[in-house]
Amino acid sequence: MTSTPVPRIRPRRLRETPALRRLVSETRLDPAELVLPMFVREGATSPLPIASMPGVVQHTLESLPQAVADAAAAGVGGVMLFGVPEVRDARGSGATDPDGILNVATRIAVEAAAGSLVVQTDLCLDEFTDHGHCGVLDDRGRVDNDATLERYVAMALEQARAGSELLGLSGMMDGQVAAVRDALDAGGHTDTVLMAYSAKYASAFYGPFRDAVESTLEGDRRSYQLDPGNRREGLREALLDIEEGADIVMVKPAGSYLDVLADVAAASDVPVWAYQVSGEYAMIEAAAAHGWIDRKRAVIESVRSIKRAGADAVLTYWAVELAEWIRKGDLA
Ligand code: PBG
Repeated sequence: MTSTPVPRIRPRRLRETPALRRLVSETRLDPAELVLPMFVREGATSPLPIASMPGVVQHTLESLPQAVADAAAAGVGGVMLFGVPEVRDARGSGATDPDGILNVATRIAVEAAAGSLVVQTDLCLDEFTDHGHCGVLDDRGRVDNDATLERYVAMALEQARAGSELLGLSGMMDGQVAAVRDALDAGGHTDTVLMAYSAKYASAFYGPFRDAVESTLEGDRRSYQLDPGNRREGLREALLDIEEGADIVMVKPAGSYLDVLADVAAASDVPVWAYQVSGEYAMIEAAAAHGWIDRKRAVIESVRSIKRAGADAVLTYWAVELAEWIRKGDLA
């Protein structure tokens, strides 16, 4: 008679109690590693809900300071500001106007934050152009890389003057990091941090964001954002941005690109961030609203997975709520 073999090695041993599971957890969450993206709407008189992003609003200049203070009080590491202007034109003039919505909002946020978190700004033209592209167009209607760099340089200088501590270069133009770094340094802004959205994919998951910024884009961004099928190219873009002087590189979206994130994290000698984008947020919120998913567990799992894959920090619309759960030790 043969007896059933008894396993000598039992991985389950370490999963037995909550205290053991806590002790051996490989991935911890910290509010300091969360960044809250925020929208500020020019001309708005009260915060405006965004239909496809329940719980997220377009702030007014008046509601912004309290929201920044709330994020700081929750221990969140930073806020990333996006401006929604009232008027747009072909060159995105509002982006380089010191009185443009994003630059005004930056001054207000910096004052409200008072050093308690890092105030960051999106550096891209898409919210400010009437055609909705991330750059200016040539006479054939194509996004003109090098002409766009001149606009980014001017935008960067205004953002730095407004007090932005970290510029998020999200436009996916070739050479944008070097161009902006050179201009900032020449202008005396040697301390302004550059975070490059290095591996930014042409993704359907940006859908709700386009509502949030009232995007006027027709067509798509496939001539400058990465093809979702390309993994090696994501790493290449990140390495190029590091060479050009990026202080931080990013992979975006996060959840569907964890392989790219892991590749970049393994190769990078600068911090690697990931952006859990609007569509990732909307999918979980919508499923939870239907009662099809446990909202809190799904939120925690989604962000934890992004960190597990190698992100040093995560941009997420849940930053404040998640920070509060973390601080209370309420992550079950
Ligand atoms: C471009 C930008 C986009 C997002 C952040 N910066 C939109 C795009 O590239 O189409 C998307 C963020 C999100 O979906 O949450 N300024």
